[in-house]
Amino acid sequence: MTSWPKDFVWGASTSAYQIEGAAGEDGRGPSIWDVRSHQPGHVDNGDTGDIACDHYHRYREDVALMQGIGIDAYRFSVAWPRVLPQGRGAANEPGLAFYDRLIDELLRAGIEPWLCLYHWDLPQALQEHGGWPNRDSVGWFADYAELIARRYGDRVKRFATFNEFSVFTLFGYVMDWGAPGQTDKAAHLQAIHHVNLAHGAAVDILRAQVPGASIGAIHNRQPVLPETDTAGDHAAAETLDELWNNVFPDPQILGRYAPRIAEEMEPYLQPGDMARICRPTDWFGINHYNTIYARADAASPWGFAWGEAPPDVPRTGIDWPIAPAAFRDTLIGSWQRYRLPIYVTENGFGSHEVPCCFDEVDDQHRIAYLKRYVAAMAEAIAAGADVRGYFVWSLLDNFEWGAGFANRFGIIHVDFKSLKRTPKASSRWYKEHIAKAKLKPATSVPRPGRPA
Ligand code: FCB
Repeated sequence: MTSWPKDFVWGASTSAYQIEGAAGEDGRGPSIWDVRSHQPGHVDNGDTGDIACDHYHRYREDVALMQGIGIDAYRFSVAWPRVLPQGRGAANEPGLAFYDRLIDELLRAGIEPWLCLYHWDLPQALQEHGGWPNRDSVGWFADYAELIARRYGDRVKRFATFNEFSVFTLFGYVMDWGAPGQTDKAAHLQAIHHVNLAHGAAVDILRAQVPGASIGAIHNRQPVLPETDTAGDHAAAETLDELWNNVFPDPQILGRYAPRIAEEMEPYLQPGDMARICRPTDWFGINHYNTIYARADAASPWGFAWGEAPPDVPRTGIDWPIAPAAFRDTLIGSWQRYRLPIYVTENGFGSHEVPCCFDEVDDQHRIAYLKRYVAAMAEAIAAGADVRGYFVWSLLDNFEWGAGFANRFGIIHVDFKSLKRTPKASSRWYKEHIAKAKLKPATSVPRPGRPA
């Protein structure tokens, strides 16, 4: 049996727009994802997050389910437009009060709240002022971070600034795969830089406002492979690798953009920017699911298109490659490059499953995936990577962005008509796994790096 480091955190993750619903309730303003999901053709089946899992009303039941599984920590995001309907200016008290109730319920259940400030739901009012490509966004985000720090900092100590910087900037500003649906390379570069600056500003605010805060950022990191062995596909993979894996953590932690990016960024850089971006953080969040592939595409703004994995690669129920060794290598490589304690803030298995009988979802495929990925994480730890926690994506089946409700990642099944929750076999596996992991924690695992 694997011995896990002492105090290893076992958790589950969700995000606001994907589960909360109550989109028009209690003064919440619209976000760019409300707008996108209501435009025809952007989300499969015309699904929206209007109701989603109705977590806004059912959070007590959801916290009880978490408690039943025995997780140590719950990572959620605050919906910026719920607490600041216009994105700035007057705060919305009923929206703020919802997160008070959620946080208090978690603490009562002995579950540590991990609060992420931004999981892709920019207030639409700010989009109408240019969104992230407008440098004013740095100040908007800083003010929002201050509101959150002051309101919840007495009870919440774990903060993440952003979730998956590169996914929402790449998909939202240049590929039209996510909100706000732009296809503009200059907007993409500006969004990258301003989001980096916003991260730095929020780190400083959280540090100043919340005594004992443990602050990190959540990066999607995964190997980018060329679709074929041609020079063009190799170059495409290098470009995507830079934009996907490095363009946020490098400036935030190492204080630099890669030379090629720095050159393109030149028009948007101001003196002192790198020092504003590169602020000390306490941990490094990694979301990882699979390897990704790139191929050359001279017609696209950055010269690459999404590639196909080779046909013989094993895949999940939604066709994502299964490659646990790539997860192990990503953890080791991220530790070696950034030297910050790592928390795996998302990992999980997507599928189109339906309950078979008596509401039972016997998701053995998910259990097999989770076991292999958790084993790969143990290998990374044994190889010296300072990994301190693991959050499964996701607690609940939810609104999976462009795939709507079709792609299910939950360890708890949600019937999107009745909103009934039914734990899947994987939630029972996770419960047993956590209980076993806590029976025999290792005490002598070396702890290089800073304390988290
Ligand atoms: C990640 C997102 C998360 C969810 C999973 C499947 O990219 O952070 O919201 O969609 O993928």
